[in-house]
Amino acid sequence: MMGERAGTSPSGGSWALVTGSTSGIGRATAVGLAQDGYSVIVTGRDRDRAAETRRSVESAGGRAIDLIADLGDPASVRKLVEQVREAVDGPLDVLVHNAGGGGFAPTESTPEDMFDAAFNLHAKAPFILTGAFAPAMAERGRGAIINVGSLSTSMAAAGTAAFQASKAALSMMTKSWTAEYGPRGVRINSVDPGFILTPVNEGIRDMYGTYLASLPAGRGGDAEEIAHVIRFLVSPKASYVNGATLTVDGGKNAVVVM
Ligand SMILES: NC(=O)c1ccc[n+]([C@@H]2O[C@H](COP(=O)([O-])OP(=O)(O)OC[C@H]3O[C@@H](n4cnc5c(N)ncnc54)[C@H](OP(=O)(O)O)[C@@H]3O)[C@@H](O)[C@H]2O)c1
Repeated sequence: MMGERAGTSPSGGSWALVTGSTSGIGRATAVGLAQDGYSVIVTGRDRDRAAETRRSVESAGGRAIDLIADLGDPASVRKLVEQVREAVDGPLDVLVHNAGGGGFAPTESTPEDMFDAAFNLHAKAPFILTGAFAPAMAERGRGAIINVGSLSTSMAAAGTAAFQASKAALSMMTKSWTAEYGPRGVRINSVDPGFILTPVNEGIRDMYGTYLASLPAGRGGDAEEIAHVIRFLVSPKASYVNGATLTVDGGKNAVVVM
């Protein structure tokens, strides 16, 4: 009954699509889901890092394919949908919308294409992918979707309006999709990471040393610490977690640093 309710045990050759799995959190999630028994679709723009993640998934005992796509380009997202449909030989039961990044600028000097890129990557690509794969999950009565947000989904910083608004759009979709697909067995949840020591933060980690030491956890997080939470949320152990946002930030959001 438990597995039936959760609907996300990797049985019968289940596949997981993890966007942005050529690096950082996505890469750790891809490898972790393979350890949990999923076959994994690795995707990103960088061919070499995609192949490297695929090999890591295979070393973890999983099956993997790597597909190159620019999720900032809706045509490339639609092509990815076709490629996934052609490539997989079983149900796509897990979808992790993790790809993210982009530029920051004050509102008055944010070029329109930077604004559009943020919304294409963080909101439109997940929207297209969910529209393509969630209906089949709902028809099978099982599936799990994770939206990787950010602390900036709920808190503001100057010069990041386009990025934050696009992440907030994805955060709202967690609730919209829960209303839409939840009653048919698909669980959608968000994970909002704090400061995680992935390649995107490589250049600035020293600048944040004092800040990170001031957190309740006393440090930045590792990609695996986010991946573990994603793996839990897609697993049957989280069978009653629907439409939730789990903040994984070492306690940053919980305290005022004095
Ligand atoms: N690290 C943090 O402190 C932190 C904090 C809050 C939220 N997050 C969120 O966590 C997610 C993962 O971040 P990370 O720290 O693991 O960063 P990362 O190491 O830079 O990884 C970002 C991933 O997104 C992919 N990506 C970026 N733009 C893309 C595009 N246009 N098309 C396709 N793929 C694209 C990259 O692939 P390619 O380079 O191969 O294209 C890469 O695999 C992001 O959504 C980020 O906003 C991270």
